[in-house]
Amino acid sequence: MFLVDIDFCGIEALDEIFAIESLYNPTPWIRAWLERDLNLDNGLSCYLGARYRKNLVGFGACRRQKKRLYIMNLAIHPHYRRRGVASQLLLALAEIGTTWELRSATLDVRESNGDAQALYRGFGFRVVGRTRAYYQDGEDSYVMTASLPLVLPR
Ligand SMILES: CC(C)(COP(=O)(O)OP(=O)(O)OC[C@H]1O[C@@H](n2cnc3c(N)ncnc32)[C@H](O)[C@@H]1OP(=O)(O)O)[C@@H](O)C(=O)NCCC(=O)NCCS
Repeated sequence: MFLVDIDFCGIEALDEIFAIESLYNPTPWIRAWLERDLNLDNGLSCYLGARYRKNLVGFGACRRQKKRLYIMNLAIHPHYRRRGVASQLLLALAEIGTTWELRSATLDVRESNGDAQALYRGFGFRVVGRTRAYYQDGEDSYVMTASLPLVLPR
């Protein structure tokens, strides 16, 4: 098993997070928004980083959305995919939700993003809706939810 170090991250990780985000996202978050998010200290949202030999290889972000944990983002550097890094981050994000006494998690995923949908389905997420033109480029999202704590894939 490829184990990574997972911990909270803040503004010091801005460049590394932005680099991973820019590698995959056709419409990456604007750097200033990311900077604002990483500087927030309101107890309502957080970023987690996954490090291998001190290098950031992936990150995840979540926030409280009423009684649910909303997973805002999850991305792994292309060189480190299919090694269980996203799974480790997802479990850590879900653990935060449990600590916040939330009973379910929700997220939006691109309709075309079969890779991420496969990951989420493995952890018990199911499609419960679709949001038209959710993304800046006009693509729809699937809304997926799962109960917390997450089930481990078989
Ligand atoms: C989707 C993503 C986060 C998966 O990260 P990862 O670290 O490779 O995922 P894991 O190794 O933990 O995969 C766990 C399981 O998810 C499924 N999965 C992950 N990537 C997959 C792929 N490319 N094709 C099919 N299934 C996939 C598989 O069931 C996999 O288990 P397996 O490798 O034993 O078959 C990664 O591909 C990524 O960063 N993509 C770009 C960013 C993105 O799309 N984020 C989602 C935003 S909603």
